[in-house]
Formats: sequence, C-alpha cells, structure tokens
Amino acid sequence: MGYDGNLTPLFDLASQPGRAAPYTEFLGQDIIAVDQFDRRRLAYLFQRADEMRDLVAHAGACDLLRGYVLTCLFYEPSTRTSASFIAAMQRLGGTVIPITQGVQFSSVSKGESLPDTIRVLEQYSDVIVLRHPDVGSAQVAAEAATVPIINGGDGVGEHPTQALLDLFTIYEELGGVDGLKVAMVGDLRYGRTVHSLTRLLLQYNVSLRFVSPDTLRLPLNLMNTVIDSGINVRESDNVQDVIGDADVLYVTRIQKERFGDAAAYDEVKDAYEITPALMRQAKEKMVIMHPLPRVGEIHTSVDADPRAAYFRQVQNGMFIRMALLAAVLGKA
Ligand code: ASP
Ligand code: CP
Repeated sequence: MGYDGNLTPLFDLASQPGRAAPYTEFLGQDIIAVDQFDRRRLAYLFQRADEMRDLVAHAGACDLLRGYVLTCLFYEPSTRTSASFIAAMQRLGGTVIPITQGVQFSSVSKGESLPDTIRVLEQYSDVIVLRHPDVGSAQVAAEAATVPIINGGDGVGEHPTQALLDLFTIYEELGGVDGLKVAMVGDLRYGRTVHSLTRLLLQYNVSLRFVSPDTLRLPLNLMNTVIDSGINVRESDNVQDVIGDADVLYVTRIQKERFGDAAAYDEVKDAYEITPALMRQAKEKMVIMHPLPRVGEIHTSVDADPRAAYFRQVQNGMFIRMALLAAVLGKA
C-alpha cells in the first residue's frame, strides 16, 4: 500500500508500541548503530528535535550544555556532519574541539593509535563524534572511551545520525512512515547512509525498492536481513521502475573513494540523473532526498521543485544532533 495522502499526526504516540522513551535512557550512551533505536527512542528524539527547531527559530541558542565540550574527530572529509555537530553544540551553549580539517595535522600522523587518541581527547571533552574509514572503528573507540562516542560514519558500515535525520525528515515531510514506498537509488553497496536508513526502516510497515547498477547492489547480508524481516522488497537497475510509485526517492552519490579500481568507477559514475522530466512522472505528494554531497545524480534544476527536500533535510540534521547531544549528556 502506498502513501494515500491521509496524514497521521506527527509522532502520534498512540501509534507507537510504547510511550516515548525517557531521556535518561540515553545518558552516557555511545551511539554506534541504528539498532540501538526502537520506536520509543525515535519518538523521544523526534519530539526533542522539534523543540530544538522552535528554540533555534525563537532564541537561536540556549545554555543547556554550557560548560560541556564536544570533540569532533574526523579522519575522513565532511561538511554536514562536522558542521552540524559543531553548530548543534554551540547553539546549546557548549564548546567544540574541532579536529576536522585534516587529521594529518594531529599526532595521528605520528602513528598514534585510535584508542590512544580517544583516551587523550576524552580528558578534555564530555562527548566525541568520530568519523573514520574503518568499519567498526566507532565500536573500537567506544571500548577505549569513558565518555560517549557518536559514530559520524565508519567506512562503508553505518552512519546512524544521518539515518536519524533522514527518518525525521520523512516524518516532517510526509507526516508518518508506515505505509510508505521508499526507493533508494545509487551506490547501495558502499553507501553507509543507505545501510543505516534501511535498517531503521525495517521497524516500520514500509515497502523498499533498491535501484543500483549490478555492481553496487545492497550487500548480501543486509539484503538477507531485509528479506527475513518479511517486508515487501524489490531490486532494479532502472529508476523508471520506481519513480511513479515512490513516496520517498532517496538518491545517493556513487562513492568514488571506495572503489579500488578507477575503471570500475568510470563504468557506473553516470548511472543515474534525476531530472525535471523524470520528476514529472513522480507523484505530486512525494519527497526526493539525498544525504549529500551530490555530484550530478540530481540535476540542479530539480532544486526548485517543492518535493526536493534535501536542503530541508540538512537543517533537520542540526536539530536531531542537538537533541542527541542533550540526550547523551543527560540534559532534558
Ligand atoms: N555524506 C554521506 C556520508 O558521509 C554520503 C556521501 O558521502 O555520499 O556517508
Ligand atoms: N551527509 C553527510 O554525512 O555529509 P558529510 O559527508 O559532508 O558530513
């Protein structure tokens, strides 16, 4: 069943299996993977993110996290994840140690291990956001740390805070998640945002469509998890197969940096481009999302389409990260 245009109220707790989780459940927790979030926790976070939106609109900032320090430790490039965590911390009155502009200028270039780097940085800070090229690195950091570690992307593994903001955006744009057809397009093999969002969506009554070149299909273990969940799922290599039916079109970049072989990248790099002509075949009430950065998969002339939600999605990222920082630091 597709989205029928009947909105359920935002975060209708009556439709959740339980009540919203209390904020104390997050206190001191590492945020490593999306399987840490059930619908109660999501309901709590999304309510708080909505409050953060109001806070920013009306006051810009507050003192909730005054005296707290966040370290952003990024071993891979980032614009949104790093900047939105920094903005989130600053708008809540906290401060930031930003190691985001080339970790080569830190003692990592002298050979310092990840656990040692973490054990040093936690002496200065109350929470650490880590982005790292290795799958499992956030878990390694969490085992070394006594302060909460937030996974800002671990290689081709997970990007849990992106999935939280993606799901929040679907709620904000379409009023609910159950009953929707979600189509994911692009690099499903290496796209960690796809991996996290797919896992999160398995908690809902959704249909999933995966569109990719054959070489970039969803990893087999994740596809098996999807199939075992019993939800309606199909794969295709053609956007035409999903565009008319999708409530959410989640487009992703081909992850050039993950390819060992330049020729293999060249073969698929221009596989998809969402254009205004294609959008004419889409439903009137649907959203097109993208974790960004884009490098050609959505033509810029689509940006003016009211269904293009990717810049609103970016802003939602700051509200979600404000809510998450407050929660792990135990501030209601
Ligand atoms: N920014 C997202 C990530 O770091 C998506 C991308 O880079 O394509 O996973
Ligand atoms: N969406 C996302 O993670 O963007 P950055 O890679 O710029 O942080």
